[in-house]
Amino acid sequence: MYQLNNKVAIVTGSGRRKGIGEAIVLRLAAEGCRLVVSDLGQPKGNEFAAEHIGVSEEVQDIANSCRALGAEVLTISCDVRDDIECQRLIFATVEKFGRVDILVNNAGVGYLMEPFTEFKESSWDAVLDVNLKGAFLCSKYAANQMIQQGTGGSIVNIASQAAKSGFPFAAAYTASKHGLVGLTRSNAVELGKHKIRVNAVCPNHITTGLGHWQNIFFSEKMGMDYATYMQSIVKKNPLGRTGLTEDIAKAVAFLCSEEAAYITGEAMNVSGGEEYH
Ligand SMILES: NC(=O)c1ccc[n+]([C@@H]2O[C@H](COP(=O)([O-])OP(=O)(O)OC[C@H]3O[C@@H](n4cnc5c(N)ncnc54)[C@H](O)[C@@H]3O)[C@@H](O)[C@H]2O)c1
Repeated sequence: MYQLNNKVAIVTGSGRRKGIGEAIVLRLAAEGCRLVVSDLGQPKGNEFAAEHIGVSEEVQDIANSCRALGAEVLTISCDVRDDIECQRLIFATVEKFGRVDILVNNAGVGYLMEPFTEFKESSWDAVLDVNLKGAFLCSKYAANQMIQQGTGGSIVNIASQAAKSGFPFAAAYTASKHGLVGLTRSNAVELGKHKIRVNAVCPNHITTGLGHWQNIFFSEKMGMDYATYMQSIVKKNPLGRTGLTEDIAKAVAFLCSEEAAYITGEAMNVSGGEEYH
């Protein structure tokens, strides 16, 4: 365990069952953090349909699972594309817990995939607005709060293997995740003097709600049935399996801890050895 007792942690996009965000809040709850479970909470237009997002019942369920581990939990709905809502996320956290020590920018959209020559501007904007602008806005307000507190902090951005390599049909997703690593490095350099560490974690192939959607999408594109596609994924992975949400949660807990006190500006692959640069 990483001794995160009483640290106040906000995890965006953590209100969807089976998601990486859910695993992160459960792990941070087990580590003794006080938590903000945040998500969209309700569908918004075609691009944010209920089947793709964390709705309020799921948010409450996940918050209750964290409480069952002994954590104090606040739930806040926040659309990370919206400047005012991101400010409110930080202010409401401070109102409840008095401080912010950890921010995990986990909210992400990976289901708007189209051939590049037909890529819709609206899809591009939705992906970039959540995956990159959302992390910028939440980090900006969290960093201001951490600077005021004067005791440092940790920001972890959930990037992707698509932050290191290109993928077909995923121009916006790949660009946003590469950009997120750029944001990570720039913020690490600029905020280091305040003892705020900024790192990214780069997962691959985890069968979350989003991961399942991507498995169906890519298996169809490759003309394979689902099972054959999954076998092909496992076959090319040095550790011979796909990732688990808990694999990412462990990496996040480590990066937020004193064990990682001299680590900042990193984009850590958690990919079973599939991605190594
Ligand atoms: N599953 C994978 O294989 C995989 C691989 C690499 C990276 N990732 C990244 O991990 C993160 C979590 O993904 P996941 O696989 O757990 O999928 P998920 O769909 O379970 O989680 C994404 C969350 O983001 C939330 N979200 C979407 N738009 C939002 C908005 N405007 N404001 C606030 N929240 C919003 C969703 O409601 C959802 O809860 C994402 O950033 C994703 O890109 C996932």
